[in-house]
Amino acid sequence: MKETQAYIERVKRVNRDSQRLELAVDRSLSSLLAGQALLVRRIEKDYESEHWDPYLRELWFPVEVQTSNIVVVEQPAKAQFVPGQLLSIIGPVGRPFRFRRKLRNILLIAYQTTPAALLMMLPSLLTKQVSITMILMGTARQYDTNHLPEELEIVRADDNMTWPDMVMTLGWADQVFAIVGQGSELHYFGEIMKLIRQRRNDVPANYIFGVMQRPLPCGVGACHACILKLRGEQKLQCVDGPAFDLTTLRLN
Ligand code: FES
Repeated sequence: MKETQAYIERVKRVNRDSQRLELAVDRSLSSLLAGQALLVRRIEKDYESEHWDPYLRELWFPVEVQTSNIVVVEQPAKAQFVPGQLLSIIGPVGRPFRFRRKLRNILLIAYQTTPAALLMMLPSLLTKQVSITMILMGTARQYDTNHLPEELEIVRADDNMTWPDMVMTLGWADQVFAIVGQGSELHYFGEIMKLIRQRRNDVPANYIFGVMQRPLPCGVGACHACILKLRGEQKLQCVDGPAFDLTTLRLN
């Protein structure tokens, strides 16, 4: 992990609610993998000499690494970004997602948030012919998916957070990655686990992972603000995450 400078090369609207930013970044970030994030601050030209500060940056999960120095992120359309904007980036932050060796079917769940932090895994999984179903629940149901790969199966849950063939989908999935809205992560993950436990007798270890996207004050394991309680141990989101086995995380 290191600090580098980048700039927004292009801003592209991809649908009604989302825009994608192409960031011209240092080559060291071209090896980013799905699950790893960037800590980003918008800066001015004299930033390095006058305003350097490692803290309170935005956490951005890339959706694509295009070439050796272009990384793409997805942001809400209402956020204001302009080409040429300079950025200070600390990254990569966190560990890549770990997939099962024999992965055939994967279930992605977005609840009260956009699924953006899960999108970077799509191209490599589709190349390996993994079947992917994405469930959108709560406010995530409003997320416009027209720009996503057509091989993806998209299901919008009903008001009770259920969908047709739910038991079958949960049995079909070899692995599940869930992402939830910020501010009440442990509560939302708790709701998802309750739903799954009502429909699966057994929820094995390494089956369902919650992807944490809480703000990271330092991102390097120094402040311990991102500590999480797991059964029998404590872990740091910035160093050990962002994905945690939901059968071990202490949920609300
Ligand atoms: S953000 Fe400071 S230790 Fe994780």
